[in-house]
Amino acid sequence: MNQYQPTIDLLKKLQKPEPFAKSTAPFWDDPYISGQMLKAHLDPYKDLASRKHATIDRSVEWIVRELHLQKGNRILDLGCGPGLYCTRFAEREFIVTGIDYSKRSIQYAKEYATLNKLKIEYIYKDYLTIDYSNMFDLVTLIFCDFGVLSDRDRDSLLCKIHKSMNPGGHFLFDVCTPKYHDSVKEDRTWKYEEKGFWRPTPYLLLTEKIKYPKQDLLLTQYFVFDGNSNFDIYRIWDHAYTKDSISNALSDAGFNELQFYGDTMGREFSDGSETVSIVARKTT
Ligand SMILES: C[S@@+](CC[C@H](N)C(=O)[O-])C[C@H]1O[C@@H](n2cnc3c(N)ncnc32)[C@H](O)[C@@H]1O
Repeated sequence: MNQYQPTIDLLKKLQKPEPFAKSTAPFWDDPYISGQMLKAHLDPYKDLASRKHATIDRSVEWIVRELHLQKGNRILDLGCGPGLYCTRFAEREFIVTGIDYSKRSIQYAKEYATLNKLKIEYIYKDYLTIDYSNMFDLVTLIFCDFGVLSDRDRDSLLCKIHKSMNPGGHFLFDVCTPKYHDSVKEDRTWKYEEKGFWRPTPYLLLTEKIKYPKQDLLLTQYFVFDGNSNFDIYRIWDHAYTKDSISNALSDAGFNELQFYGDTMGREFSDGSETVSIVARKTT
């Protein structure tokens, strides 16, 4: 083999990938990384894997009030993580289902619910594969995770969510806006760690921020070299939406009654908002 081949291969991988190119290894469900993520979810004071817990408290209060939810209503939380929203909904006597494909988060969520005598159904599953009909009064997908979806996955998921809801029910989610992408600079940085977020053993990390302005896409890409013969690439895509572009996607899936807010606590949306929270009502 050409002695420069590994370097040549690496340089090829460093070129701008096609939109929505996949990671080379699991991120949310990796045994080590998911433990690090769980710690981040459970840190009450940082907006990391989940929002600050005080923000979550205020969000749940606002959602229940704004959508006039009644005890006994059914809620589906997609990408529920360790159940921070599900717990708060169940404490208010809603009937709650949480779906996530991090085994570790679902295991934590189940144990927490048992310990606290909360009846919550937690399912370890890819939410892109849900298949419910007329079941839920509220479906949530919170902390801008909707932006990771390719157009095809987004359209398919929106139809599945619409089908899963009772007439009169709501779908509440948030996405980043192009304003947020404007605030991010393209960047490439190297770092060496003895032990850290990505590996329990020494590794070299290349972090890249790459923009695709025509498609309103931002890629955060991590190359992790851990001394094994190969390396892994983790890609986190973020599709930003304007009120118009998200309205089009929602209307194609049958959602026509929409309300927009600046965040999941009901702040007013403005041209400067870096996120938009959408409440979409199923009318028929
Ligand atoms: C940014 S975290 C937010 C967690 C939670 N919504 C919160 O705000 O506390 C995204 C979560 O979505 C989950 N997730 C991402 N894509 C998923 C998919 N296709 N199916 C199921 N879970 C998914 C991840 O495992 C992770 O727990």
